[in-house]
Order: sequence, then C-alpha cells, then structure tokens
Amino acid sequence: MAVSAIIAAAGSGERFGAGYPKALIQLGDRTLLAHAITALAPVVDQIIIAAPTGFEQQITELVGDDITVVSGGSTRSDSVRNALAVVTSEFVLVHDAARALASTVLAQRVIAALRSGNSAVVPGLVEVDTVKSIDSKGRVTSTIDRSTLRRIQTPQGFSTQVLRDAHESGKDATDDAALIELLGGPVVVIDGEDRALKITTPADLNSALGFLGFNQSFRTGIGTDAHVFGAGRTLWLAGLQWPGEVGVEGHSDGDVAAHAICDALFAASGLGDLGSNFGTDRPEYADASGAALLQDTLTLVTKAGYVISNVTVQIIGNKPKIGNRRGEAIEAISKALGGAPVSVSATTTDGMGLTGEGKGIAAVASALVYKQ
Ligand code: CTP
Ligand code: MG
Repeated sequence: MAVSAIIAAAGSGERFGAGYPKALIQLGDRTLLAHAITALAPVVDQIIIAAPTGFEQQITELVGDDITVVSGGSTRSDSVRNALAVVTSEFVLVHDAARALASTVLAQRVIAALRSGNSAVVPGLVEVDTVKSIDSKGRVTSTIDRSTLRRIQTPQGFSTQVLRDAHESGKDATDDAALIELLGGPVVVIDGEDRALKITTPADLNSALGFLGFNQSFRTGIGTDAHVFGAGRTLWLAGLQWPGEVGVEGHSDGDVAAHAICDALFAASGLGDLGSNFGTDRPEYADASGAALLQDTLTLVTKAGYVISNVTVQIIGNKPKIGNRRGEAIEAISKALGGAPVSVSATTTDGMGLTGEGKGIAAVASALVYKQ
C-alpha cells in the first residue's frame, strides 16, 4: 500500500517576517523544507511540494528530480488541493513545511494507524494550559475542559479518496482533518510530539534549534593582534604567503589574522588566550604557521566540547590589498578550522595610528562557538 506525502510550503511567512517564504528559512544546516523532506522521504513513495508562486523553479532545483513541485494556492487548503491532484498513492500524508522537525518516527506511526484501518489520522498533544472562550469584548464566556482538548499537528494521514472527497467542497480550513470533520467523517488522534512544533515566529525557530541541540550555549569571543613590519621577513597573513610584500616581526610567523582568530576562539571557549596556550614559553610554537596555530586551537576548542559556529576577521592596514585574495584567505582559514564558516574583510585607518602610518598590520576577530 503506497503512501504519498504532500508538503504544504507555499505560505509567505508573514508572521515570521523574513521577507521571503518561511519554507526557505534556514534551521541549523538546512532549510525548513529540507528538514521536512528528510523526515518523510524514508517512509513514503512519492513527495509533492506545494511551492510559493514564483519560487517553483528555485525549489525544483533545491529538491531534485525525484520530488514533484506544484504551485501553491492563496490559502493552505488551495495549496493542498493543487498537490492532491497529482497524488498517485492509496494513502497520503499532508505535512506543513513549517513543522520542519516532525520526526520520521511520527510519520511512521501515522502510516501504521492508516494501515490498521483508519481513514483519517492526526497527531495531537494534550493541552497543558487552561483554555477559556471569550466574546468580542474579551469577556470570558466559558472555561473549556482541557482534558478533552488536543493541539493538532502534522503530518496528518488520510485515505487519498477520503481526502479528495473532503476537498471537493473547495472550503478552507487550517488543517485537512477539519474538512473531513465537516462531512461527518471519523478522524482519529494519535500522540504527537513536541518537536513537531509549528515554526511561526523567530522565537519558534529558537525553540526548534533547541531540539537540534545547539542553541543552549552559544558563546562569543573577540581577539586582536598587531605586528610591526620587519625588513627581510616573509609576509604571512590570513593563512597565506604574500610574495613581494614586507613581512612582520614576531614569535611564530606573525600572521595577525590567524592570531586574532585564535584569541577569539579561546575567548569564546573560555580557554584563556593565545599567550596562555601557545606563548613564548612554548618553544615548539616559535615560527609556527598561522594555519598550524588555527589547527591546534581547533583541537583545544573541540576538546573543551565546543563547535565553531563561525569566525570573522578584519585586517587593518594599508597593505597588502586583501580584496583579490579574499577567497583564498577564507579557504585557507576555513580549512585550518575544519571547514568552519569564515569571513575576511579589510580596512585602513585614514592614515592614523600604527597601521595607518604604514608601520605594521593589525587584525580584529570575533568567533561564535556552541556546546556540542
Ligand atoms: N501554506 C501553504 N499555502 C498557503 C499558506 C500556507 O502551503 N497559501 C503552508 C505554509 O507554507 C506552512 C503551512 O501551510 O508550511 C502552515 O501555514 P503557516 O504556518 O500559517 O505558514 P505561512 O502562511 O507561511 O505563515 P504566515 O501565516 O505567518 O504568513
Ligand atoms: Mg498562514
């Protein structure tokens, strides 16, 4: 008995306020839509996405050829109807891209309930708050017995024929089961899960990050470094050698960008600083390359239980000109940091100070890390 999955992803995400569709918002390492696909793909035979108008092409490229993309409608129900038209299986799951973290196990339980003879199955959570009805003036009209309430989630599972009949009405509802209820059809509630929360606002995204296990303990750190130019020295900067440029004095190769990043990473991880880890009392670090220091910093940061979220470094000096080699610099630093996201920028100081007077180079860096 084959199962199709419809992912309703055509909303504009007004309440989230990103300025682009919510399904394309990044959550950890992938978009909300990609999370939803990852969860459903192992347990369904066909996936159909209702995409926001104008984003069909972009989403098709994102999801690959095995997934069908249709244009969404102006309401969620319209979007589901558009997708339902191309469903080929006997059973269908309807899922919100906004419930990105609903698990494969939940989808499996919905499918199992369909296979055991139910024609409409929805996951739900018990209500923990007291719920009251109010009138238009905000006056309470009744307190509802919360033990009879369930907060309904997706994926919802249906016999495809039953869902098609329900959508014949062309009506709108905030979920699909409601259309079946209107016809008096039976709908069964099974246990939902907290991680299937609907991501509506940026605060919800933060809760979702909690389920992925990495928003609890982000920490930032900053670092700076400066070295004076030294005649006859080779210049190393941002993990690169700079032929034809004047080098700088210093213990190690004097790579101010690398050193500032190491300092920022140590600070973020609460591990002291460059001096306390690789200081002049550690002869093995004399003339160490910036890349080697970055690698050893990564080892210490990882040992302390942190993962690098990203680092950024700004190089301050009249020369060398960074722009042409920015890509190379980012690649070199990122490689030394195990592939961490890196930004490199540069600036001058209007002729003022050590770097402005052309006496040397400085760098300021920031790092963001999180507990594994
Ligand atoms: N949805 C859809 N087509 C629409 C409206 C909504 O496919 N015309 C989808 C959304 O993409 C989302 C799910 O239905 O996955 C639940 O909707 P909601 O959370 O309200 O998302 P948005 O409509 O995008 O958000 P907002 O209401 O804040 O604009
Ligand atoms: Mg909406």
